[in-house]
Amino acid sequence: MKKAIFAGSFDPFTIGHMDVLRRAAVLFDEVHVGVLVNPGKHPLFTPEERRGMIEAAVREAGIENASVSVFSGLLVDFAHSVGARYNVRGLRSGADFDYEYPMEYYNRRMASELETVYLASDPAHVHISSSAVRMLMASGAGISGLVPDQIYKIIAERVKSDEQ
Ligand code: PNS
Repeated sequence: MKKAIFAGSFDPFTIGHMDVLRRAAVLFDEVHVGVLVNPGKHPLFTPEERRGMIEAAVREAGIENASVSVFSGLLVDFAHSVGARYNVRGLRSGADFDYEYPMEYYNRRMASELETVYLASDPAHVHISSSAVRMLMASGAGISGLVPDQIYKIIAERVKSDEQ
């Protein structure tokens, strides 16, 4: 059984992430999405909020072989905890590869059996990033179409309740 992880901050999960996950779910028997708890960062959404949003989007997309959990610490330990031999990463650009390649080096040093698999982004998604979504949200601009519909609904509800 081929098991993969797809890890990230996902603050929030975008349609670009969803495209990579959908394609990974075709390539692998199981895909374990890992939401990173990064104590050094101040995320917009808590790890549990992010996990819940991604789960809702995965359900809506009808992806049956993906699960979502929160992890902290090393990616290789998350991979071991779910028994995954593959680490899926999306690539939008050469800059993404420059960021990913050193991480692959360190991951390989720590876990030589973990194979990193890069999926080139859909050209329609190359400019979509969680940081751009957060920037738009902070400015009160719309984010419809940048995140999966289910996630858009959850975020819109949260924005509405924050305003009340
Ligand atoms: O898509 P992101 O948010 O940039 O993902 C980054 C992620 C989660 C893959 C990376 O930060 C990570 O693996 N963090 C855990 C710490 C770790 O294992 N680092 C790899 C060795 S340098």
